[in-house]
Amino acid sequence: MNVYDSERMSDVLRPLGYRAVGTPDDADMIILNTCHIRDRAAEKVFSELGRLRKVKEARAERGEGTVLAVAGCVAQAEGREILSRAPYVDIVLGPQTYHRLPEMVARAARAAGAVIETDFPVEQKFDFLPADRAAPAGGAAFLTIQEGCDKFCSFCVVPYTRGAESSRPAQAVIAEARQLAAAGVREITLLGQNVNAYHGDGPDGRTWGLARLARVLADDVGIARIRYTTSHPRDMEDDLIAAHRDLPQLMPFLHLPVQSGSDRVLAAMNRGHTADEYRALVGRLRDARPDLALSSDFIVGHPSETDADFADTMRLIDDIGFAQAYSFKYSSRPGTPAAGAGGHVPEDVKDARLQELQAVLRVQQDTFNDATIGLTAPVLFTGRGRKPGQLSGKSPWLQAVNVDGPDSLIGRIANVDIRHRYTNSLGGVLTEETDRA
Ligand code: 5AD
Ligand code: SF4
Repeated sequence: MNVYDSERMSDVLRPLGYRAVGTPDDADMIILNTCHIRDRAAEKVFSELGRLRKVKEARAERGEGTVLAVAGCVAQAEGREILSRAPYVDIVLGPQTYHRLPEMVARAARAAGAVIETDFPVEQKFDFLPADRAAPAGGAAFLTIQEGCDKFCSFCVVPYTRGAESSRPAQAVIAEARQLAAAGVREITLLGQNVNAYHGDGPDGRTWGLARLARVLADDVGIARIRYTTSHPRDMEDDLIAAHRDLPQLMPFLHLPVQSGSDRVLAAMNRGHTADEYRALVGRLRDARPDLALSSDFIVGHPSETDADFADTMRLIDDIGFAQAYSFKYSSRPGTPAAGAGGHVPEDVKDARLQELQAVLRVQQDTFNDATIGLTAPVLFTGRGRKPGQLSGKSPWLQAVNVDGPDSLIGRIANVDIRHRYTNSLGGVLTEETDRA
């Protein structure tokens, strides 16, 4: 979502004459868009700010001014601390206020002190963003349809930094999708912290869920590929499962975080479901779409997690078989219930569990990728590959695929015979039938 937010910040600033430059050294304005989800991400902000301070000083020596802004969830959560630790920062703005950037830039130019905007405004930023959006190259785009979260998992800062759950009206999403489609976008990834909790006002006066929205984007707007992320197991409604059966445009890849396979830890995490409920849900999804690839997030070492709990997580991983996954050591976040709970797991235990879990997930990922060798799959080419003459793209299962091919295929979908697996990508050749024109 930060990628999407950064693009939209550029859209907001374009009418003021700002354009992207190649390096911070050439920038009149630098916005650091930040993530607060784990402590490492937050700490990175301060080391990055140290680097940008030098850039700002070097520019000042050349007589050039630089507006330095910190945006995103670290700004939201630690705005005051940023200003005291990094007084050379000019603007601090949370994720819900970036539509006010032009006004903040003007205020920063006038004011002696820094400008800080971290309230949750009554107005919806989406209503104030420019209607025209610069379409990303490569045929794939993100589109935020929902933000915030009311789930309050014990470990998570999102409900505090992104705020309460809220959905954009369906018509606004459809209009943005139409614009992207007109600019050549073939694949849209619908975004939200709890994207499948989407419940936007529909043009018919009813509330639309994600399934209904996806159907319109597929059938009426003509989006060739639709993805959505991130989903919560509790919001996986029947009509969304049915959409996976009925809509070929809905890609057969689902990121559905489970976090843990232990019922005790799932309860401590306030996830609202058991491990078996997750297994049953995946079963129903696979009945609907047999080639559905699953991805998840895992946290090891949540407070109170025992060896037996961890073994339950390993058992769940074995049972499901993930195509890929992200896994993290539990990281204590200020203000969350888990941070104040007892039973913190020692760092070395967390390390050992993470290694063991990642080793199994690595094997599962390789196994999944190996199983696609020999298939002919449609690949959306999003850009050039690393080697000259190479294109890089995405399979329906979100695998990176590289082939030799002409630049004219960038932004287009073409069939590929998948031949090789590398560590994090596949290699293949364009099929004979591919129209290279
Ligand atoms: N510690 C470790 N991982 C976390 N995540 C969220 N909060 C924490 C935390 N405090 C992980 C979850 C979530 C992903 C986006 O980040 O797995 O799904
Ligand atoms: Fe955080 Fe996701 Fe839980 Fe919401 S559902 S609190 S975003 S982990």
